[in-house]
Amino acid sequence: MAEYKLQVSTGDMPSAGTQDHVSVTLIGSDGESEKTELDNFGKGFCTGKTGTYTVKTSPSLGKLLLVKVEKDPYLHFPEDEWYCSTIEVTTPEGDAILFSCHRWISRGEYVELRGGRAMKFLEDDHPLLIEHRKKELTLQKSLYQWKPLAEGLLHTSSFEHESELPDEIRFSKAKTDEMHDATKRLGMKFKSKGMVGSIEKWENVDDLKKLFNFQKTAMSEYVAEHWKEDDFYGFQFLNGINPTLIKRCSELPPNFPVTEEMVKPFLAEGSSLMSEIGKGNIFLYDQKKLEGIPTQVYNGESLTVTPGLCLFYLNPENKLMPIAIQLHQQPSEKNPIFLPSDLETDWLLAKIYIKNADMLDHEAVHHLMNTHFMGEVYTVATLRCFPVIHPLYKLLFPHFKSTLDINIRGREGLMGPNGIFTLSSAGIEGMTEIMRRSLREMTYSSVCLPENIAARGLESIPNYYYRDDGLKLWSIINSFVRAAVEYYYPSDADVCKDTELQDWIREIFTQGLLSNKASGFPSSFHSIEELIRFITMVIFTVSVQHAAVNNGQFDYYYWTLNAALLLHKPPPTTKGQSSMETIMETIPNVGETVAISLLINQLSGKYSGVIPLGQYPEKRFEEPELTQMIQEFQAELSKLGEEIAKRNSQLEVPYDYLHPSRIENSVSI
Ligand code: FE2
Repeated sequence: MAEYKLQVSTGDMPSAGTQDHVSVTLIGSDGESEKTELDNFGKGFCTGKTGTYTVKTSPSLGKLLLVKVEKDPYLHFPEDEWYCSTIEVTTPEGDAILFSCHRWISRGEYVELRGGRAMKFLEDDHPLLIEHRKKELTLQKSLYQWKPLAEGLLHTSSFEHESELPDEIRFSKAKTDEMHDATKRLGMKFKSKGMVGSIEKWENVDDLKKLFNFQKTAMSEYVAEHWKEDDFYGFQFLNGINPTLIKRCSELPPNFPVTEEMVKPFLAEGSSLMSEIGKGNIFLYDQKKLEGIPTQVYNGESLTVTPGLCLFYLNPENKLMPIAIQLHQQPSEKNPIFLPSDLETDWLLAKIYIKNADMLDHEAVHHLMNTHFMGEVYTVATLRCFPVIHPLYKLLFPHFKSTLDINIRGREGLMGPNGIFTLSSAGIEGMTEIMRRSLREMTYSSVCLPENIAARGLESIPNYYYRDDGLKLWSIINSFVRAAVEYYYPSDADVCKDTELQDWIREIFTQGLLSNKASGFPSSFHSIEELIRFITMVIFTVSVQHAAVNNGQFDYYYWTLNAALLLHKPPPTTKGQSSMETIMETIPNVGETVAISLLINQLSGKYSGVIPLGQYPEKRFEEPELTQMIQEFQAELSKLGEEIAKRNSQLEVPYDYLHPSRIENSVSI
């Protein structure tokens, strides 16, 4: 008689345990055990507990290949789902094999677990495992299907509602409740003051400050104090919520005829625009891709989105100062170049229009499309193309947890018929067009931070904390990915021969990039180096980059004068005609402001179940080498966290969006 010892772990989330009967069948190369109920004559399968059981077979089963798990009803009680974390089996030969499960199991479900070391397609040599692998992928491909987001846009999963998702990739009930509560609480406060749906205008700046009676952060209050200041305006293009747009300017664009005379007063004494360009101190923000996009029709009038240009000067105090703004691409008398020396409200309005365009681009492209939706492309491709035993599934899956759930909610909450984009100056149609144009222009190098920084000429600009922290995080992720990839792919030939991996990257290229070769994204892999770079980019995008463009939404957007999602009036075409009254008439009204505030409050909230970058609470790898790599990854992140905290303690405006403890492992909010 051969004995197999099983250690069965139940998850520690609420309701993970079950009263139902749990049985297993062990399947080996020389036969299979009988279906054996796991019963220790007491309460088993309690939340957070591990139980030990024995399965007896007459001869040994040979090499243990699969564990089949079944759950049957206890008496006539209703369905009682069970979250099985892992089953560790010790064979009669003394081998300990990890079968990771990490999923909810319902009655009648067909669950067969693979165990042991992570295996690539060609490494499976037993017909039963080859067949199992094939069946698993067929099932996954029927569950996770692609659907175009809109004409000319990348494809996402075909799920219409989060309730269609398997429970293990959905938000926990606690998180869903907390998100609803956060919105409801703030909504009630606004409602009690008659602000929800109000079409009243804000009377003045002090009137707007009453927002802080309902909700605030230290940074949102700082923004309200400093929004008018040029150096804080420039700072936001480096360390605000959309930090990857400005470029070093080596030559003025011909359609932006800024003259020496115009900007001389704002440069260092005795200097000139040409010499500052030569020294690399001039930077450009150019929103030409917004030219001619559809805009929202508001009270019968089309709103304006400005495809503006803004010139920045890095002054001798190392402050990045806006020195000239043109709100449309084609210079004309009706399209003057605004200067800091203009009437204060003219200059403020010009800056407000640039920030409005920036906010639209940020939310539609840099936040939603580049992190959430591209993250979904990587998620769906992974779920469809890799079986759970594949090393890259084990490596990547923790970085995709909850992404489908938040994106399904996000599609409704942002792009749906009542979504917040309907409120924006661009409207749904315009926001979709911004995404469409941006996808056509998206390049692989632009989503790889080191190349992105170099291409924009921002390697040496001082006080660029997004770059400083981001590059260190890129390097830490890259070292971890290199160690793991080189462990599983000893040669380039192993990369080329992995047909599941090649299917994965092909799906990403066709479904995400719509087969656009000009993007430079790979459509196949030929070397270990290519693979390391791509996996680094994927993990960086869904963790670090998402944190950079997500976490500060409330801080920077609550004060609508700093950044408004819609502007009611057309931008000024002449100078000297504006006043603070013009500005208050231009920004969102009370009802619009609170509607936007409710969303950014929810998206910047802190909820339970957060898994920070580099934490892998679900044990998936059996190999001790991987445990060691993960520990080193965590140690490097922790060291960086200390450095960032030390640096931030000396800054007037700390940059903590990329503190590793604030970065989630996956796009989850
Ligand atoms: Fe987000």
